[in-house]
Amino acid sequence: MSHEEFPTDEPAVVTCGLPYANGDLHIGHLRGYIGADAFNRALGTLGQDSIYVCGSDMHGTPVAVNAEQQGVDPEDFALDWHRQYEETFPKFNVDFDNYGHTHDETNVETTQEIVRTLDEEGHIYEKEIQVAYDPDADQYLPDRYVEGTCPYCGEKARGDECDEGCQRHLEPGEVEDPTSTITGNPAEYRERTHKFFEVSEFADFLTEFLDGLEGTSNARNQPRQWIEDGLQDWCITRDMDWGIDYPGDDDDGDDLVLYVWVDAPIEYISSSKQYSERVGTDEFDWEQVWTGDGEIMHVIGRDIIQHHAIFWPAMLEGAGYNKPRGIAATGFITINGKGLSTSRNRAIWAKEYLDEGFHPDLLRYYLTTTGGLQQDVDFSWDAFQETVNGELVGTVGNFWYRSLLFAYRNYEGTPEADVSAEVRERIEGAIGDVRESVNDYSMRGVGQAATGLAQFGNEYIQRNEPWKLTDDDPERAAQVIRDCVQIAKAVAVLLEPITPDKAQALWAQIGEDGDVADAHLEDALAAPPRSFEEPGELFEKIEDDRVAELTAKLEDRVEAASDDAETESDDTGGDESDGMTDTEDLEALTEDRIGFDEFQELDIRVGRVESAEGIEGADDLARLEVDIGFETRQVVAGIKQLHDLDDLPGTKCVLLANMEPAELFGVESNGMILAAGEEADLLTTHGDANVGEKIK
Ligand code: MF3
Ligand code: ZN
Repeated sequence: MSHEEFPTDEPAVVTCGLPYANGDLHIGHLRGYIGADAFNRALGTLGQDSIYVCGSDMHGTPVAVNAEQQGVDPEDFALDWHRQYEETFPKFNVDFDNYGHTHDETNVETTQEIVRTLDEEGHIYEKEIQVAYDPDADQYLPDRYVEGTCPYCGEKARGDECDEGCQRHLEPGEVEDPTSTITGNPAEYRERTHKFFEVSEFADFLTEFLDGLEGTSNARNQPRQWIEDGLQDWCITRDMDWGIDYPGDDDDGDDLVLYVWVDAPIEYISSSKQYSERVGTDEFDWEQVWTGDGEIMHVIGRDIIQHHAIFWPAMLEGAGYNKPRGIAATGFITINGKGLSTSRNRAIWAKEYLDEGFHPDLLRYYLTTTGGLQQDVDFSWDAFQETVNGELVGTVGNFWYRSLLFAYRNYEGTPEADVSAEVRERIEGAIGDVRESVNDYSMRGVGQAATGLAQFGNEYIQRNEPWKLTDDDPERAAQVIRDCVQIAKAVAVLLEPITPDKAQALWAQIGEDGDVADAHLEDALAAPPRSFEEPGELFEKIEDDRVAELTAKLEDRVEAASDDAETESDDTGGDESDGMTDTEDLEALTEDRIGFDEFQELDIRVGRVESAEGIEGADDLARLEVDIGFETRQVVAGIKQLHDLDDLPGTKCVLLANMEPAELFGVESNGMILAAGEEADLLTTHGDANVGEKIK
């Protein structure tokens, strides 16, 4: 990996986390796939030679359990989903250069070869361990076949991940009080011999790797803590028959397959290989990327940071491959402020969105620009409407249409004039912002730069009033419109990574041949063709009654699903509880009443967290900077272990502003953040209350 700015001279691979081939795709999946797709397209706009690969994750208990429930063979089951995914992604303009799957020949071979190398290099050893077993089902219970309590945080956990609690990866045998998900019976532990990968040997390598890693701060920082806490070796085999055989172990009848998390990321390599084989190595050389000079960037969900920033680079290092240059970990999607939950049907399904007749680019724009990559993004039809109507219809569409229509009516295309210095500079500024955003892995920044330029275009037209100039000062009028066509073209080039179809439509409208996807940053300043046809409007407003209807539909659906008792799994690790606590567990209500005046003495304000970081030496304390409108306050809060501090900036909170200052661990705390519950759930506001406003 190099650390030159993008674009570099080296070929690049962008990947996104493989979807388990076990159910319908929803907006939570799409956020990652669209984000990575936009990143790959934006790298192309910068002039980077880059491909985007992925594949379906076919193995493991997530697939086996679901297939079994339906009484079908896991391979048929997974292939069926795989084919559906292959059809769905292009409908969202998610344009993979190669989309394979983990059970295909390339991946089986590559995986076995890598594991063989790790073994030969002495990074793998055997160990007897206790694994869960269900005597009634007469079956071992790997991963999702067992549930219990997380030994680290005490939350309910699955066999291999604490998905509702601390998000840690759990090793076989670690989950406490295990019960079988097949029969619901308590599981027994039995001794078995398994293979282990010596991750602990890679601690120094990983520390150095993380020092050079680019991407989001959660992916760069969280793993440091895990390394400091001490790395455990990683059990890489499972007692199952669905999966890839441990190399050389094919027919010992032992049913030992590789753990799904071994062969899944290797698909990143296999998929790149398949692409090279298809287009020829002259066009794209997978080996250069993975073993020579190349750039590897992973976009993933923040729940799988450990797999990508610890296990994966250790495997790559041990087997002699290149390591990723960047890992960008996205936050989750919430729906109307609540955790997305497939079992509760609180989700927006990929198919549903398309069936409602919305253009994919609208969702692409919403998902990439609503929050930073690391932030959780809330989806509601209301907010979606606001973004579409405000930014795409109101700003981008409006500018495109009014400027091109004016150009067409008065000049039948682009008037003959030079672009003014002011406009040239403004476009250069936007180009610079896009370049910087891509280097920061910020697709939101790319979108904002493009929309900001369209906004400037609107102001420019308004300010110069070309309609008044056509008679009095035709030269000046031509100049202004020439500028506007250039801005329109530049917006198309810069917005293409996010709204590829709409950008292409604009491209064709101004008479450009070919694909805007092939355009580079400098094309934003190249002259557009002289003539073009009458333009059409590219975005359509979403009406209020449509939003009301969609919102009601979603609510009804969630209610219907909640009535079904079945409410087990939650895809976000978010809220599955009903928010109720037994009153016995609650602090008794205070009998003493206070008057309104006394309440008024509490100066409680709406704030916004600007920054959050742990206080060195203090286990629980974090130092926050909170904007309360008038000023920014430094406060100390006992939330270090309970929140992902990187995710806090940008969130609204509630602050007791006239709390006496105090000093904790040498840091002055000037106010108190309000929170409730064992996990320090931070109080916030849900409507339009502004930062600085008093709570009353
Ligand atoms: N299928 C996994 C999940 O949904 C992600 C696999 S990503 C890879 O959590 F790195 F393993 F490829
Ligand atoms: Zn946990």
